[in-house]
Amino acid sequence: MYRTTTCGALRSNDIGSVVTLSGWVQKTRDKGFMIWVDLRDRYGITQLIFDEDRTPKEIMESAKNLGREYVIQVTGKVIERASKNPSIPTGDIEILVTELIVLNQAKTPPFTIENETDGGEDLRMKYRYLDIRRNPIKENLIFRHKVTLEVRKYLSYEGFIEVETPYLIKSTPEGARDFVVPSRMNAGQFYALPQSPQTFKQLLMVGGMDKYFQIVKCFRDEDLRADRQPEFTQIDCEMAFVEQEDVLNTFEGLTKHLLKEIKGVAVEKFPRMTYNEAMQRYGNDKPDIRFGMEFGELNDVAQHKNFNVFNNAELVVGIAVPGGNNYSRKEIDKLINWVKRPQIGALGMVYVRCNEDGSYKSSVDKFYNQEDLAKWAEKTGANTGDLICVLSGEKDKVRAQLSALRMELAERLGLRNPNVFAPLWVVDFPLLEWDEETQRYHAMHHPFTSPKPEQIPLLKTNPGAVKANAYDLVLNGNEIGGGSIRIHDKQTQAMMFDYLGFTPEEAKEQFGFLMNAFEYGAPPHGGIAFGLDRLVAILGGQETIRDFIAFPKNNSGRDVMIDAPAKIDQEQLKELHLSIEK
Ligand code: AMO
Repeated sequence: MYRTTTCGALRSNDIGSVVTLSGWVQKTRDKGFMIWVDLRDRYGITQLIFDEDRTPKEIMESAKNLGREYVIQVTGKVIERASKNPSIPTGDIEILVTELIVLNQAKTPPFTIENETDGGEDLRMKYRYLDIRRNPIKENLIFRHKVTLEVRKYLSYEGFIEVETPYLIKSTPEGARDFVVPSRMNAGQFYALPQSPQTFKQLLMVGGMDKYFQIVKCFRDEDLRADRQPEFTQIDCEMAFVEQEDVLNTFEGLTKHLLKEIKGVAVEKFPRMTYNEAMQRYGNDKPDIRFGMEFGELNDVAQHKNFNVFNNAELVVGIAVPGGNNYSRKEIDKLINWVKRPQIGALGMVYVRCNEDGSYKSSVDKFYNQEDLAKWAEKTGANTGDLICVLSGEKDKVRAQLSALRMELAERLGLRNPNVFAPLWVVDFPLLEWDEETQRYHAMHHPFTSPKPEQIPLLKTNPGAVKANAYDLVLNGNEIGGGSIRIHDKQTQAMMFDYLGFTPEEAKEQFGFLMNAFEYGAPPHGGIAFGLDRLVAILGGQETIRDFIAFPKNNSGRDVMIDAPAKIDQEQLKELHLSIEK
């Protein structure tokens, strides 16, 4: 038997018992006549003591040769520790070792395997199996397991059935590029890995499954960011005979359950906001509503006053930064440079100091008097002591710029408290989105999303204004999930494909299977998918998903541990009917 207990279990009431433990050597302290070893396993750390007077000589010798990360098995008596360590649960006891077996030796690890490590990101990723031994990563993985378990419990209890759908499929458009897999048995043909199980879950509804869910890997070849991985996991769901309200209520229930069970946080009914309102008030379709700093549109009060920058702008819009009047001139200049960086792209920034005596001092005093500036303060909700930051330009661009500034300032002001949870439903998304590059409309969510029925006639006259029965769940400024009510009849689906620029032949070739299925009694249906990695990271108080994934990829989409992607040999290429030009 390798162990009778674990390294996290022993307490002072175990004193006197004889135990066997197995684990890794985290640290040794050798005083010559006495050696202490911190023994680690998944459950914690227990201190071992080897003592010249009480430990057999050969074991003392062997203890002296223990290196970091050696795998050992020890047997000994639980004794009271002379100097207790209140910072760990086993800190009252230690093991006086009488038997020691080295199960495996270890090379010196490339970074220290402790809570705080000296290992850089690349090194940690290369030796991820060592990184996982560290508490922060290990705890994240255990946390993810707990969340997943609660999701399965909740949805199963609500009558959802988990069904697996295939990974070797045909393209399912979700707005990214596909990863493709060549077929050996079908020369020149390729599978696509699913960007989501979207079409399959709809087919399950046609199949009468009624309430489906799946915790499922999805694959998207897109630019990577802190909250995006090329393979990630969705909590994917679909329901039949439902309206938007039913889907929102069910998944609000799931989210509340998770917040309660995992974080002990009770949240009342989630607020809702239309897409248009979110864009107007926050410049963003995933607003962080843990704090204010809402947009104040200033066209009415800032245009036609001889300041041509504003007069020529489609939108003049500002936010009030709480306490921002404290910023020095230098700090404000830095802020102006920040918004002018190419990543943000503003041409400049106008500011107004709201002085303690109620007066205003602006960077455009030449054009605006105190009365004008008071109106700006009113529109942005500025109080004395605040700083009003104003940007202007083309509506969509300026909203995105001010939204980036709002988030940056909130971060600096400590307003993005990871222990506060502010969920929000954003509803009534536009059906279509104009794509400058291809000069045509794309589906904003995906081509299976149903337009609001009463707005279908608008498709002919003003397609960009048509709203969909589509919704997102936002948590603390992050898009956690998105879904929609689907089209379930062949005619509407054919019409949508037509609007999206598919010829009837292309539509038939790519989605004929779905259109056919719609001819055999497709029920009204809709659903949603949550990003599990994002959900877990945010519940865990972070916004980077990488450390909640056991083996993530780096920003170039590489797994640096196994060194993938990699070349394959000529033989294999030939077998797959592929050739690579030299
Ligand atoms: P959508 O494309 O909005 O919807 O994806 C759902 C959620 O998945 C998460 N997500 C990601 N997480 C990590 N890395 C990525 N690259 C990534 N891409 C998306 C986000 C997102 O909200 N089939 C539809 C759902 C439906 O209509 O039911 C879909 O996939 O949190």
